[in-house]
Amino acid sequence: MVKIVGIGGSLRWESYSQQALKIAAQRVEVLGAEVEILDLRQMRLPFCDGGKEYPDYPDVEKLRETVKQADGLILATPEYHGSVSGVIKNALDLMSFEQLDGKVAGLISVLGGQVNSNALNDLRLIMRWVHAWVIPEQIAIGQAWGAFNEEGKLLDEKLSQRFDGFAQSLVDNTTKLRGN
Ligand SMILES: Cc1cc2nc3c(=O)[nH]c(=O)nc-3n(C[C@H](O)[C@H](O)[C@H](O)COP(=O)(O)O)c2cc1C
Repeated sequence: MVKIVGIGGSLRWESYSQQALKIAAQRVEVLGAEVEILDLRQMRLPFCDGGKEYPDYPDVEKLRETVKQADGLILATPEYHGSVSGVIKNALDLMSFEQLDGKVAGLISVLGGQVNSNALNDLRLIMRWVHAWVIPEQIAIGQAWGAFNEEGKLLDEKLSQRFDGFAQSLVDNTTKLRGN
């Protein structure tokens, strides 16, 4: 069984990227993967200062250890000013090859405006830099304020099916690449 860790790059309590992450995590779990979401809203992380140790911030070790034990990742970022959020970038900056090298990653972006792939392309580039394997399937949700109902479910059936394909690819490719 592969282990997938999900990280959402928004600290907003009603965050749509956190909702999208939850849906992706559920779909991956249904396919038999073990899933853990690291909710950055409930963790206290410092800005990366380029140092190795952050003794005043035990959650840095929690982030690093949890990701290190994982086979794959789901990263969900809001689009901020045409790119990834600082929150997701900082979480990634707090880690290095020790945690990220060889991991299989699926990427999701959530936008207030029209759907595009800017944040996804930037996140793909970042993940390439830390030697992760990013699956080709990806999800961008435009005008996210209209994409979910009050229970956090997706309103668009086609978008929901895209999550199924995304989850299947993530589990299949993680299993192939990590040998579980
Ligand atoms: C600082 C900032 C920058 C943003 N930049 C963009 C942007 O470039 N394109 C866009 O479509 N939406 C942009 N938005 C809107 C967010 O993508 C949108 O509100 C999204 O739902 C935020 O993610 P969340 O719901 O997970 O918090 C921006 C929002 C903020 C706060």
